[in-house]
Amino acid sequence: MLQAIISDIHGNLPALKAVLADIKKRKPDEIICLGDVIGYGPQPRECLDLVRKTCSVVLMGNHEHAVLFGSEHFTPLAQEAIDWTANQLRDPETLNYLASLSPQHRDGKIMYVHGSMRDPLLDYLREADSPWMFHLLLESLLDDFDDTRVCFVGHNHRAFLGTEVGYLFPHYQPPDAKTKFNISGQKLYVSVGSVGQPRDSDYRSSYVLYDGENVEYFRIEYDVDATIKLIREANLPEFLAERLLYGE
Ligand SMILES: [Fe+2]
Repeated sequence: MLQAIISDIHGNLPALKAVLADIKKRKPDEIICLGDVIGYGPQPRECLDLVRKTCSVVLMGNHEHAVLFGSEHFTPLAQEAIDWTANQLRDPETLNYLASLSPQHRDGKIMYVHGSMRDPLLDYLREADSPWMFHLLLESLLDDFDDTRVCFVGHNHRAFLGTEVGYLFPHYQPPDAKTKFNISGQKLYVSVGSVGQPRDSDYRSSYVLYDGENVEYFRIEYDVDATIKLIREANLPEFLAERLLYGE
C-alpha cells in the first residue's frame, strides 16, 4: 500500500494542484490529508472540494475547528483570516462536512493526527533541545498510546523526521541530500510539512510518500505569485502574502 500524506493546504489552490499533479505521477493507492485545508489562503472552498474528491481520509485541523467553534485563541491576524474564511463557507452542507471530521485516524500501529499524540488538534510537535529530550518525548507520547510505532503529524508546517536519536531535516541539506528513509522497526514522528504555507525557510510545498517501510519527502514548486495576487485581491492581511515568498 503506497500512501501520499499531505497537510496544511490553507486555501492555497495553486500549491494544492501542483502537489496533486506530482502525487499522481507516483500512483499512490490513497492520499491522506492531516487537516487545515482552509484558513489563511484565498481559495478555501476550491481546496476543500478538491481534497474531498481526492483524499480517502481528511482530518480536522485547528482552522476547520475555528471556523466551526470560534477563533478567540488565535492571533488577531489569524482571526481576521479565519473570519474571512468562515464567511466563504456558510452553507450547511459544508459546515456539516467540517463538523464530521476528526483530528485523528488510526490504522493498526500507525497514527495520523493534525497536532500530536498528546493533543491531536492543537499541540505543536516542536524540535526538542537535544536528541535525549526528544527520546523522552517519544517514550512518553508513544508508549502511552497502545502500541503505536509511527505517528504522522501536520500543524507545525515544518518537514522533518523525529526519531529516537534526534531529527532528520531532509530539505535543510544540500539538494542531493537523502530524502528517503527506511523507518522499519523504528518508533518515530513523521512531520510532513505544509502544502500551502511552509514555515521551514523553503517556500516550496511539502508532502511525503509512505510504502509501509520507507518515508520519502518531496518539495514541489508552485505558482506563488498567483496565490499572492489572490490574497491581495481578497484583502486578506499582507503578511499572509509575503510569508509565502520566504517559507516563514
Ligand atoms: Fe496549519
